Amino acid sequence: MTITRVSTFSFSGIDPVCVEVQVQITRGLPAFIMVGLADKAVTESRERVRAALISMGIAMPPKRILINLAPADIVKEGTHYDLPIALGILCAMDIIPQEELLHYAAVGELSLDGQLSPVNNVISASIGAASEDKGLICPQAQGGEALLGGDISILAPPDLLSLMQHFLGRQILSQPQFTPLPTLQSEPDLNEIKGMESAKRALEIAAAGGHSMLMIGPPGAGKSMLAARLPSLLPNLTSQQSLEVTRIYSSAGLLLNSAPVIRPPFRSPHHSASQVALTGGGAKVKPGEISLAHQGVLFLDELPEFSRHALEALRQPLETGDISIARATSHVTYPARFQFIAAMNPCRCGYMGDTERECHRVPKCKEEYTRKISGPLLDRIDLITTIEQISPKEMVSMATGESSESVAERVQLARERQLTRQNMLNNEISSHHITLSTEVADMVEKASTQLRLSARGMTRLLRVARTIADLGHKEDIDIISIAEALNFRQR
Ligand SMILES: Nc1ncnc2c1ncn2[C@@H]1O[C@H](COP(=O)(O)OP(=O)(O)O)[C@@H](O)[C@H]1O
Ligand SMILES: [Mg+2]
Repeated sequence: MTITRVSTFSFSGIDPVCVEVQVQITRGLPAFIMVGLADKAVTESRERVRAALISMGIAMPPKRILINLAPADIVKEGTHYDLPIALGILCAMDIIPQEELLHYAAVGELSLDGQLSPVNNVISASIGAASEDKGLICPQAQGGEALLGGDISILAPPDLLSLMQHFLGRQILSQPQFTPLPTLQSEPDLNEIKGMESAKRALEIAAAGGHSMLMIGPPGAGKSMLAARLPSLLPNLTSQQSLEVTRIYSSAGLLLNSAPVIRPPFRSPHHSASQVALTGGGAKVKPGEISLAHQGVLFLDELPEFSRHALEALRQPLETGDISIARATSHVTYPARFQFIAAMNPCRCGYMGDTERECHRVPKCKEEYTRKISGPLLDRIDLITTIEQISPKEMVSMATGESSESVAERVQLARERQLTRQNMLNNEISSHHITLSTEVADMVEKASTQLRLSARGMTRLLRVARTIADLGHKEDIDIISIAEALNFRQR
């Protein structure tokens, strides 16, 4: 009794895990059985495969067809198993020679007429195929995406029939040629913001050191506007980062035209977003907002309006740079190294501290509003900055500020200093990376006692001071850098 085998992948987060589709056709009552922890989308694959074969004029043999997805102990999710299953059956029916298939892994969804429809995770599948020394068969529309994953042989047929013709040597498919180009969307520019010099300075420091930042200010002061301009100050992703981010978008089904992501992403989920929407997971595991913000910016506007659950779930990824999602039988990990930017009003009505309008319930209004943001979360924020409304005079003036491009140049220089010195940005350094002169150490000690900073708070103060010194091209942290950094810790 022969068994035919076709390679494919399941995905743990964005990591490909080899799966073998084994097909056995035996005499017996006609049946089409699938085993190997397949979820609903996969078991439904039987019907799509049957219909696709019929559309090609191939009837399933009236025998017992057994499909096993091995290894049987990992859950198989998604619709990309259609193609390897159909190929396995064609092989078991002796229509396609098995040797031809040994050199390929396959992913793709079949429609009822045999067309191949796009699936998620094609880049990761192509990386997996490369590590197995195989080529990849994927839907036509995703040939370019597969090229991003590795220098391997790729077959990207429009439908099952053309793939069959290829293997029968009747109509050879050629390697897709086109490597997708990144789509460059215009990012909003910093020069649209008038005044707000101190807020812009805080944004520049955050950009330079990769620091997390909380902006507190009245409604309409320009907090959202400022946050949206942070990506324009950041350098392009490195090729390694770009590949990782692109794989996450592919895994979420959000990759447009197979174009690689090369700019740091900006995600700003609404405060009604659930914890699952933020962290990922759910019935079908998908990356959440924090993973979609990987190597970019996660902006939470109206921070206290988010559910406490959602906010607490941010604590782990803020420390580790990834998120682990519990599944019925295993854990799935997605990368989630994002720059955390948050904004809030000073109190529920938003007018505390406003010179024009007054908050009438000081201090209750503020206390009630900020209660949800726990100490541990606040402790993970490097910069806390107060945003003030600009005056009508500044608003109507014609003067435009500095452009993102020129600020980005300074940011880039400061980042290079950090990377040559310590191979990471200042937001990740610990106290042993920092040396202080006695004079500066004295000042830090005094200030920390006065502000009752925790050990974590002190580290954050020094990290920000280091970035300020880097922006000023200074070898060592001086008193001025510490003094400026202290502005961002008081609340
Ligand atoms: N400094 C500024 N320069 C130019 N326009 C501003 C400025 N501050 C606020 N605005 C205008 O006010 C609008 C509201 O700002 P927004 O960022 O949404 O405020 P917030 O998030 O603090 O409530 C912006 O879309 C912009 O049109
Ligand atoms: Mg806003």
